[in-house]
Amino acid sequence: MHSFFALMMFVALAGRAMALNIVFGGPLGNITASQVLAIPDGQLKTDCQSSCDPANQAIQTCGDTNDSCLCNNATVSAILACEQCMFTELINQNAQMPDPRAGSTPALAAYSAACLASQNITLPPTSIALTLPASWVGPFDALLNLPATIITVMIGATLGGSAILLLSNM
Ligand SMILES: *[C@@H]1O[C@H](CO)[C@@H](O)[C@H](O)[C@H]1NC(C)=O
Ligand SMILES: *[C@@H]1O[C@H](CO)[C@@H](O)[C@H](O)[C@H]1NC(C)=O
Ligand SMILES: *[C@@H]1O[C@H](CO)[C@@H](O)[C@H](O)[C@H]1NC(C)=O
Ligand SMILES: *[C@@H]1O[C@H](CO)[C@@H](O)[C@H](O)[C@H]1NC(C)=O
Repeated sequence: MHSFFALMMFVALAGRAMALNIVFGGPLGNITASQVLAIPDGQLKTDCQSSCDPANQAIQTCGDTNDSCLCNNATVSAILACEQCMFTELINQNAQMPDPRAGSTPALAAYSAACLASQNITLPPTSIALTLPASWVGPFDALLNLPATIITVMIGATLGGSAILLLSNM
């Protein structure tokens, strides 16, 4: 019984060590691949279902612990397509991000960083770059708010980091 428990612990820990660790910062903290597109239910999710289903399926097929699969072209381009859809929708609707992962450059950058850390795979910048939709005609709120969002995420990460520092100094 004891050794069974030890084995389960080992399996659980080994699984943790291997899983792609996406360092998001802010309230999200570190997330796994299967959480990277897990935005809350809502209009945006419905609108982008056909773009995001293949990405979620690709991530599920790889599993959270097969990092080389999670970082390959097919998976990454499916994720980009999903994020691009959400980005385009947010711009077209002039809406704010409902979640820091929606239509999010920081999310893609964090994913890329996780692939580099885990697999020493440097994703080409174009494979993780969101582009403005052709319908974009000028200044609009969501884009203006984008830097603010990024700063918010960075402040969140800093606060999170300080909390960890505080805890480890206690
Ligand atoms: C998040 O991941 C980074 C990099 O592996 C690690 O240094 C940090 O301690 C992790 N933070 C949490 C809250 O697990
Ligand atoms: C990881 O995924 C690849 C496909 O990209 C597959 O060939 C490989 O067997 C998988 N590895 C594990 C440990 O499941
Ligand atoms: C993945 O992308 C790299 C660089 O863009 C390319 O050389 C390679 O052929 C691609 N592999 C697949 C399976 O598409
Ligand atoms: C990571 O990849 C780079 C370029 O592909 C290579 O020069 C470097 O030696 C690799 N590092 C490790 C730890 O494998």
